[in-house]
Amino acid sequence: MCGIVGYIGEKNCVPILINGLKRLEYRGYDSAGLGVLTNNHSVVIKNKGKVSLLEEKVQKTNLSGKVGIGHTRWATHGVPNEINAHPHYNTSRNLYVIHNGIIENFRTLKKGLEKLGYVFETETDSEVLPHLIDSFLKKGNPLFKAVRLALTEVEGTYGIAVVYEGEPDKIIAARKGSPLVLGLGDNENFIASDVSAILAHTKQVIYIEDGELVEVYKDKFIVKTITDNEIEKEIHEISMTLDEIDKGGFSHFMLKEIMEQPETISNSIRGRILFEKGTSRLGGLTEVVDRLVNSKRIIITACGTSWHAGLVGEYMFEQFCRIPTEVEYASEFRYRNPIINHDDTILFISQSGETADTLAALREAKLKGALVLGICNVVGSSIARETAAGVYTHAGPEIGVASTKAFTSQLVVLALITLLVARRKSMSQVDGRAIAEELMAIPDKINSILRLNDQIEKIASEFHDANNFLYLGRGYNFPVALEGALKLKEISYIHAEGYPAAEMKHGPIALIDENMPVVFIAPKDSTYDKIISNIEEVKARGGRTIAIATENDNGIDSLVDYTIKVPSTIRMLMPILTVIPLQLLAYHIAVKKGLNVDQPRNLAKSVTVE
Ligand code: AGP
Ligand code: GLU
Repeated sequence: MCGIVGYIGEKNCVPILINGLKRLEYRGYDSAGLGVLTNNHSVVIKNKGKVSLLEEKVQKTNLSGKVGIGHTRWATHGVPNEINAHPHYNTSRNLYVIHNGIIENFRTLKKGLEKLGYVFETETDSEVLPHLIDSFLKKGNPLFKAVRLALTEVEGTYGIAVVYEGEPDKIIAARKGSPLVLGLGDNENFIASDVSAILAHTKQVIYIEDGELVEVYKDKFIVKTITDNEIEKEIHEISMTLDEIDKGGFSHFMLKEIMEQPETISNSIRGRILFEKGTSRLGGLTEVVDRLVNSKRIIITACGTSWHAGLVGEYMFEQFCRIPTEVEYASEFRYRNPIINHDDTILFISQSGETADTLAALREAKLKGALVLGICNVVGSSIARETAAGVYTHAGPEIGVASTKAFTSQLVVLALITLLVARRKSMSQVDGRAIAEELMAIPDKINSILRLNDQIEKIASEFHDANNFLYLGRGYNFPVALEGALKLKEISYIHAEGYPAAEMKHGPIALIDENMPVVFIAPKDSTYDKIISNIEEVKARGGRTIAIATENDNGIDSLVDYTIKVPSTIRMLMPILTVIPLQLLAYHIAVKKGLNVDQPRNLAKSVTVE
């Protein structure tokens, strides 16, 4: 979950590591730390809180060195204080380790090491690593072997980087379950948990896979398996640019990412619609399309916002592809020994492509022989690489912890897959074209919703003191209700629930009083009259109401306290429009509460731990 970065070369590593950590901070921001090898000794500087605080502390020193590692933490074991911050070190303080993941057998390892006389300073699981590696160094092993042998004793997940005063010409890094890339420069090399940390320096990367270790020198590297076999690796060229990962003049990444959606959706669609034929072309699925079309069942598996996209996908696939579809939380799927048949397709949706639960569910599904497909945003991510085939969302880097543009791009890709499969089945060319046409019109429609930003901000000022919120929607807009509630709770810390509107009378209605704002997603569709009745029920009990309605619906204004009007489109695409005002509403409420929108408390962008 944390971010790790390492540098070895001829330059001073300190600013490189600090800037890398700033890029990675979205992954965790409980604490940050650096471990640097200087001329003939080593220095560790750590700090509770954000990277900027570490930077201030580092600036007060004249720390410099040509080899170093840095970490930004999302605490799993031990409170987020300075002592628990990474790097962790051995007792002689000449070996430093940064770790992303969880060492599941750390208690057993710790007991064993304590018996050997090792003394532990922190509450973290990670601290066993430097001591364990140290114990192998003491047996006369060189660093690489000591790390490799130590890792054979470790259960759990890790992305690690290790530096050692005794062998200052190298960094050892290894991966099992947490992402890790090696960046290749000219007489300098980098390691990082994602490319954004090193993009300013190189675009040539090698993805380190699970079970691999790499010995990184400034001018060479050797990749080996944990069983000590050397392996050849492919070099990849990154197409992402630095501009794409900057704030671009917006006060927050989240706002930038919301505002980018007309463009990101155009990118998701570009080159993929065959308008004449009323279908789509998805290069990544060519090899598997027959199997997909003939699937007896589709299971969509994901977490959080991506799971909400999956729910919308279920409505699309069942309505148009006529394939029974189920949507499962990845965390539940992986542990309940799911019944999976060879003619099932399991579709994994993930912005980061690194979510631990989703990745584990994918491995489980693969084992059982189903066709495993991915919808990922991050190119080259673990889920993208481990699925048999898939479709990239092309939304560009999403930095704000609350997912926005990735969600709408996921919906677009689900619609494109629907077109592809449904046209191979019973959908007519005319119907296919109608969907294609509506899809192509979405970016402009989003532009018109974004112009309501000021109006939505005013509504936010009426509600930022609320303690609870209810979001209600039906059909395709039920998942939007869940997503609206998730956005609000994630960044504003206001308790919010999403429900299918009809479920309100089965319980949540008991919560309605004059303090309870209720957001209705109420576009004019076949369930409109029903949702109007639900609005009446809330009004009758004094609830405060906001409706997301369609542009031409004038009747709704007198029924609710506030309306936000969005253009109309076909039902299957409506969630792409109705979610935008909810993203903005959550954003403005959080800003008005003075909260850190991009890095909400306790969260991290990429959940690479269980
Ligand atoms: C979204 O706003 C959340 N921060 C979170 O629920 C996220 O969608 C979830 O962790 C899944 O991430 P992924 O799409 O990268 O797999
Ligand atoms: N488990 C380690 C800790 O709590 C690492 C967590 C992380 O991935 O940031 O410090």
